[in-house]
Amino acid sequence: MTQNTKESNIMPQTIISAQNLTQKIQLAQKQLTIFENLNFDIQEGEQVAITGRSGSGKSTLLGILATLDQASSGKLVVCGESIAELNEEQRAEVRLKHIGFVFQSFQLLPHLTALENVMLPLRLQEKFKYAEAEQKALNLLKRVGLERQAQQTPKVLSGGEQQRVAIARALIREPKIIFADEPTGNLDGETATEIEQLLFELNRELGTTLVLVTHDPKLAAQCQRHYALIDGQLVEQFAAKPTAAITGG
Ligand SMILES: Nc1ncnc2c1ncn2[C@@H]1O[C@H](COP(=O)(O)OP(=O)(O)O)[C@@H](O)[C@H]1O
Ligand SMILES: [Mg+2]
Repeated sequence: MTQNTKESNIMPQTIISAQNLTQKIQLAQKQLTIFENLNFDIQEGEQVAITGRSGSGKSTLLGILATLDQASSGKLVVCGESIAELNEEQRAEVRLKHIGFVFQSFQLLPHLTALENVMLPLRLQEKFKYAEAEQKALNLLKRVGLERQAQQTPKVLSGGEQQRVAIARALIREPKIIFADEPTGNLDGETATEIEQLLFELNRELGTTLVLVTHDPKLAAQCQRHYALIDGQLVEQFAAKPTAAITGG
């Protein structure tokens, strides 16, 4: 594991690089272009928000960046790996090693306790040691404020607590990047703010790159970089100043 030193903050490394990234879907009658020729870089440790209307392609883009889906064309490099050149198994390897994912609907396994849910990604590791994994999961549950709920199953946890478990699970393999698709979409305002702050704190503490899809312009404005997906194009948004304009890409 490389250390997140001061130097690496000063000289950021590109962790995601997209060139002419395009997603077109062939439907029975016509071809649907979800986005076309996106070009952008994300630096290690950065917080990046992606906003856009419902149906604008945010989840599709996030799924491709997280290597869950493949783009129809273009080049995508994630953690040094050229994704288009990898097969399914190799992409799974990249995900396992480098990527954590947080979903709007939490996606916890209902019959497992919070602790077991958090430990789950470690079970896929070759050298799985129960006691070590358990300790690591407990530490993370403590970090997200759920030490006392470790033995509870998801159904007795609140939405915010379930999302905390999901965040701990996403972090347990110490990923380089966390992708979060509307992680506060199912939470009330106050809980949403707590979860947002937790994601930012963890980004700062651990140096984990955070790529966040959100509906919330206030949240997006808190991120170091904010892109809007508009008509299949990614348009960088800049903090509102009286004369600030959106520059074309
Ligand atoms: N496999 C698919 N087949 C057909 N349409 C799709 C497919 N995947 C996504 N879409 C369409 O692409 C658009 C973008 O979807 P999505 O990425 O879920 O948007 P968002 O997350 O911004 O709401 C939507 O209109 C959706 O219906
Ligand atoms: Mg979506």
